Amino acid sequence: MQIVRQLDPLRDALAGFRKAGTKIGLVPTMGALHAGHMRLVEVAMEQCDAVVASIFVNPAQFGEGEDLDAYPRQEAADAALLEAAGVAVLWAPTADQIYPSGYATNVSVRGISDGLCGAARPGHFDGVATVVAKLFNQIRPDAAFFGEKDYQQLAVIRRMARDLDFTHDIIGVPTVRDPDGLALSSRNAYLTAEQRADAVALPEAMREAAKAIAAGGRVTEILAEAKVHMLASGFHKIDYLELRDANMLALLDDFTQPARLFVAAHIGRTRLIDNIAVS
Ligand code: PAF
Repeated sequence: MQIVRQLDPLRDALAGFRKAGTKIGLVPTMGALHAGHMRLVEVAMEQCDAVVASIFVNPAQFGEGEDLDAYPRQEAADAALLEAAGVAVLWAPTADQIYPSGYATNVSVRGISDGLCGAARPGHFDGVATVVAKLFNQIRPDAAFFGEKDYQQLAVIRRMARDLDFTHDIIGVPTVRDPDGLALSSRNAYLTAEQRADAVALPEAMREAAKAIAAGGRVTEILAEAKVHMLASGFHKIDYLELRDANMLALLDDFTQPARLFVAAHIGRTRLIDNIAVS
């Protein structure tokens, strides 16, 4: 695996692939890789001839009070995992390769970025859309892979790609879960053993609510019951538990297809998010 930090050698490496007609897959990450990320790599390996993974802890998507310096950085361990998985190129740019001196451009995807996590993290999805647009231009992949765990991010990126005429495929990869249903997340590491056991109430409440909504129950009542269940099971604050249209993420009071349930809730000092399809 080639580890590349500057644009010129990146372009050289990619030119070689293109000349050979290689289908290039991109897996963008901020490092601190876990099984969820490695699933993205696995799917990219299945669908493409060569996989480029990127690691860049993007300052533009961290808001006030979100500790950029404390974000875990473990490039050597990440590189070993990526190499073992068969990744061809690790793009680990220096900051100036993404935001050169005088950088002044922002990509903002209106509407879709505003609710759900966007409400609690103003500017976050602008930072994501901006860096992902840069990565798309730098790598010009044939397909790019993102986890459905961050479904709002995926929806923002899909919209941005359509709006800015990126023509490559954007592939959403289903969430990887522990056997009890909890979605894998680097944040799960912050849970105590007791909180980890209680956290199963989140996927349980989501599954039950999705089933009841699909069966024709009243959405507001079902969601209120799900919140009660979570609050009685160790969660102390629910930022949102909402039914939304799966494409534009518009809020739904009644069940219409395609729909998804979205949740963000706090347990101990950890904020967990999740989403599932309702069908
Ligand atoms: O999901 C992430 O890790 C990041 O938001 C991404 C897509 C790599 C952009 O920095």
